[in-house]
Amino acid sequence: MDYEPTQDSRNRMHNTNRLKLGLFGANCSNGRAMTIAPERWTADWDDCEKLGEMSDGVGLDFLLPIARWKGYRGQTDHQGATLETVTWACGLLARTKRITVFATVHAPLVNPVLAAKEFVTADRIGRGRFGLNIVIGWNEGEFQMFGIEQKREHEDRYEYGQEWIDAIKRMWGPEEEFDFLGKHLQLRGLRLNPKPYGGTRPLMMNAGVSPTGRSYALRNCDALFTAKRFASLDDAKAEVVAMQDAGRAMGRDIEVYSVAEVVCRPTRKEAEDYFRYWTEEAADWGAAEYMLALKGISRAADPEAYDRMRKALVHGQSGFTIVGSPDDVAEKLAAVSAAGFRGLGFSFLNYLRELPFFAQEVLPRLHRMGLREAAIGYAS
Ligand SMILES: Cc1cc2nc3c(=O)[nH]c(=O)nc-3n(C[C@H](O)[C@H](O)[C@H](O)COP(=O)(O)O)c2cc1C
Repeated sequence: MDYEPTQDSRNRMHNTNRLKLGLFGANCSNGRAMTIAPERWTADWDDCEKLGEMSDGVGLDFLLPIARWKGYRGQTDHQGATLETVTWACGLLARTKRITVFATVHAPLVNPVLAAKEFVTADRIGRGRFGLNIVIGWNEGEFQMFGIEQKREHEDRYEYGQEWIDAIKRMWGPEEEFDFLGKHLQLRGLRLNPKPYGGTRPLMMNAGVSPTGRSYALRNCDALFTAKRFASLDDAKAEVVAMQDAGRAMGRDIEVYSVAEVVCRPTRKEAEDYFRYWTEEAADWGAAEYMLALKGISRAADPEAYDRMRKALVHGQSGFTIVGSPDDVAEKLAAVSAAGFRGLGFSFLNYLRELPFFAQEVLPRLHRMGLREAAIGYAS
């Protein structure tokens, strides 16, 4: 990047792509695929580094990691080996030039002064390309690891999250020294220097699902991620409009993103066969069952619903499933964009093996459809 960023250019991820595309979950072993396939993702740093450089080179817009503190057992201990997201982002920001790299941070687990400082450091390493995904938390077992009791009441959790981000934003702002005296946080004599890069602040996102979570995102963030599986694209469109209207009612312009799994192969049949292999013969059923148990869902209550959920979990849990030839994938991505989504954070079973074909075949199609700038790194 050879210009001074503005808040607007940060929110646009420093380009004019109408459909933003990023990789989701590459800091975790298995990524988002509950599979025993031998080629599954290990999230080893060497691979993450290569992936970051490749993603930057082909012009992807962002990398979004998952904050995960322990795995989901099963045969592979799904997401059992993870790289911490702020330090992961710092490594990648130092190795790249254009791409926005998020850290995903559980607000209740990180002291806000430490967090504000770490984010500024990452932002300066990336010269204005650091983004923040705020998680308020849901996984009790992870909180227990920290010896921190998750606030029982969901509302209380978000009240804490509000103070946390208010304190951080104030530390990033122009005040030289101040006290922050909230209900949950009492911080005295706060001083923070330097400030985020170029007099701007990091792009912020949240993926709350509950009404409280959603309004937290609308109030505080630039982007809201939804992982809902929509019955149709019309339903998706209605929800995007509803979220944007709710944002405008609060005086905020918010972008709505979703998530996806992508399998792209030269032919539709090859892609479908591979997806079937991943989600049937090579599924890690034990991990899916463990995750459902963590959420208090048992087979006894409704076996059919349980089997449906278990099946959905093995291929990444949420959002859109995009499987097909390059034409199929480009068309589906265009439809997601037409439904009003600003972008997608997507996963491959093995990111590093699959990105080159996607970049070579799908990105030029999206450019020709007017959804993305001509990509860098290959002819379009
Ligand atoms: C794109 C996306 C990324 C998320 N990343 C994480 C994560 O890294 N760690 C985590 O514990 N939860 C993560 N979540 C869960 C949400 O932040 C949120 O806590 C959850 O959806 C429950 O919503 P609620 O707090 O409104 O009840 C993610 C969800 C989505 C859709």
